[in-house]
Amino acid sequence: MVAASDYQEPNVVLLGGPGAGKGTQAEKLLEDRDMQHLATGDILRDEVDKGTELGLEAKKYMDKGELVPDDLVVDMVQKRLTDQKGYLFDGFPRTIDQAKALDDVVDLDLVAYIKISESEAVRRLSSRRVCSDCGKIFNTIFKPPEREGVCDECGGDLYQRDDDKPKVIRDRFETFLDETAPLIDFYRERGLLEEIDGEQEPDEVQKDIKSALHQGTG
Ligand code: AP5
Ligand code: MG
Repeated sequence: MVAASDYQEPNVVLLGGPGAGKGTQAEKLLEDRDMQHLATGDILRDEVDKGTELGLEAKKYMDKGELVPDDLVVDMVQKRLTDQKGYLFDGFPRTIDQAKALDDVVDLDLVAYIKISESEAVRRLSSRRVCSDCGKIFNTIFKPPEREGVCDECGGDLYQRDDDKPKVIRDRFETFLDETAPLIDFYRERGLLEEIDGEQEPDEVQKDIKSALHQGTG
């Protein structure tokens, strides 16, 4: 039997197109797991808000629904890696080159590919709202806050992301198909991929991710 103190959290990638529910599922997983959440989209938006050199460069791509260049993103992620196990990668890697760079430094246990259709992505993202203080994710249709425009968790203001406009959502989806979808086979060939139906209720999606985790990591 493994002593509780010897337990190590797994290294997991949440892979999926825009609106698949990566952030929502990460929030749920972190309720009872001590993992380090690395969401490259969140980190980049923070850099944009702070007006850093990286943020100014990244914004040019994010506003068009394109990927930020690999070297910038890989460097940004590497700076945040400690030697601890238990990373929850959300929205990274997104290209084969990013996956190879990650391979060099982290042994993954599971890649959960959360699959949804483009029409579902547009529906969800047009109605998404995010807390400007704690980052909690809401949806005016599927998960409305108790008070309109106010975060249930911390009372912060809810906002709509700049890239959640129908045209940019469609461009992001196309970028996903062109540049990120090749990772599905890349990880399948390595025996790491588990495909999850992302169009179920969020709790059902979470159950499937947890059961894939138990199968993959014992
Ligand atoms: P990023 O922020 O990662 O955006 P994304 O991948 O397009 O994904 P989203 O955050 O929009 O969706 P999500 O899957 O997290 O869904 P959520 O849980 O919020 O990246 C943004 C940009 O940054 C990129 O376009 C790129 O420019 C750049 N970037 C980031 N990483 C990069 C990288 N590695 N390399 C290069 N560039 C990078 O859910 C969406 C909505 O649906 C919410 O309202 C939620 O409440 C609702 N919802 C969730 N699950 C369900 C469900 N099961 N049923 C009904 N509603 C649901
Ligand atoms: Mg997200």
